[in-house]
Amino acid sequence: MRVLFFLLKVKGIVMRCFLSGLLASVTLFAYANQESDYQQTVERIKPVGEVRIETSSDKAPVQKETGQAIYEKRCTVCHQTGLAGAPVFRQNDWKLRLEKKNITELTESAIKGIGAMPPKGTCSECSEEDIKNAIQYMLPAP
Ligand code: HEC
Repeated sequence: MRVLFFLLKVKGIVMRCFLSGLLASVTLFAYANQESDYQQTVERIKPVGEVRIETSSDKAPVQKETGQAIYEKRCTVCHQTGLAGAPVFRQNDWKLRLEKKNITELTESAIKGIGAMPPKGTCSECSEEDIKNAIQYMLPAP
């Protein structure tokens, strides 16, 4: 009787171990499944094309427009000859303006437009820096 009881007890322990092992593996399996479901879902809802924002260091440096390039493209029309009273390229009439305004103020009025000069000298795509560089290129040597 005692032996039987003992055997039953051992069997019980073994059963319990087995059951908890089973439970653990089922749980693990479910979890693993969930993980791969998650992966699959992520794959499925992934956008077709990925947008890569390239920084300038990723590729060969983009040639930034220099003041000279902008001047030659957008400002020569008036500033080469002094059309409509525009201060002439690298001539002394710039000096008079520089006595009253610094480069920042000149840039501001060039962006806003001044007198017969339209805003940004018609270079609407020019940034503030572009305008400033073009002005610097136009100024006579100090
Ligand atoms: C359509 C002709 C025209 C074009 C194009 C033009 N300008 Fe002018 N610009 C003028 C005239 C005219 C003046 C003088 C305005 C005045 O003082 O009444 C002037 C004046 C300026 C001044 C002096 C502003 C001040 O505050 O005294 C700057 C700086 C200037 N231009 C920069 C530029 C730059 C940079 C470009 C090219 C991106 C450019 N301009 C293109 C006609 C032009």
